[in-house]
Amino acid sequence: MEVISKTNKLKAVLRKARCASLKIGFVPTMGALHAGHLALVQRAREAADLVLVSIFINPTQFGPNEDFEKYPRNLSHDVELLTRLGVDYVFAPGPEEIYPKGFDTFVEVKELSQPLCGETRPGHFRGVATVVAKLFSIVQPTIAFFGQKDAQQAILIKKMTADLDFPVEIKICPIVREADGLAMSSRNAYLSVEERSAAIVLYRSLQQAAGIILDGERNSASIRSMIEAAIEREALARIEYVEIVETKDLTPVEKIRGEILIALAVFIGKTRLIDNLLVSVP
Ligand code: PAF
Repeated sequence: MEVISKTNKLKAVLRKARCASLKIGFVPTMGALHAGHLALVQRAREAADLVLVSIFINPTQFGPNEDFEKYPRNLSHDVELLTRLGVDYVFAPGPEEIYPKGFDTFVEVKELSQPLCGETRPGHFRGVATVVAKLFSIVQPTIAFFGQKDAQQAILIKKMTADLDFPVEIKICPIVREADGLAMSSRNAYLSVEERSAAIVLYRSLQQAAGIILDGERNSASIRSMIEAAIEREALARIEYVEIVETKDLTPVEKIRGEILIALAVFIGKTRLIDNLLVSVP
């Protein structure tokens, strides 16, 4: 496996791969890899001839008071994990490769950037869409893999890919969870021991919601209240949002019908965690 930091070098390597008609599987990440990322890489390995993972902590998707500075960085460990999985190339550019001096173009998926995480993280999805568009242009992958854990991001990337006609197939892969149900996230590393046990409340409340929906509850407001009450019982938890929305456009749902998304953002101590559940009701 080769680690490449320069865009021009990567483009040359990939040009050859495309000439040889190789299918390029791409997994964009910000590093601090966990089993969720590795599942994406495995899916890419199965589906493509050449697998490329990017590791770039994208400054434009962090707000001024967010955790850009302290975001976990461990390139050598990430490289070791990816070598074991048979990845062909890691693209680990510095910020100046992606945002050279004078960079002045941004991609915005307007409506899908507004609700849920967009309300408290203005500019976040503009940063995500911009970097993913830029990476798609550099890599020109056949298939790109994203996790369902970032449900809003996944929906938004699909929309951007369709709107801008990127010739890339987008695959969204299921959430990978710890044994107790906590969704894998690089930010779980911020949790103290007590916070780590409190964090299970996100998944538990989603499971309870799935249970009452299975029992016939269809009223969104009642389901949200139940989830909120379950989270509020946990002293270390503070709710940012609990929303039940349509999967196609993230608009709020009143009566549950068809496929819907239950999405949560909850602070556990100072750490903001998100989780979600897709529910299908005939
Ligand atoms: O999901 C992530 O890790 C990031 O948002 C992504 C897609 C790599 C863009 O920086």
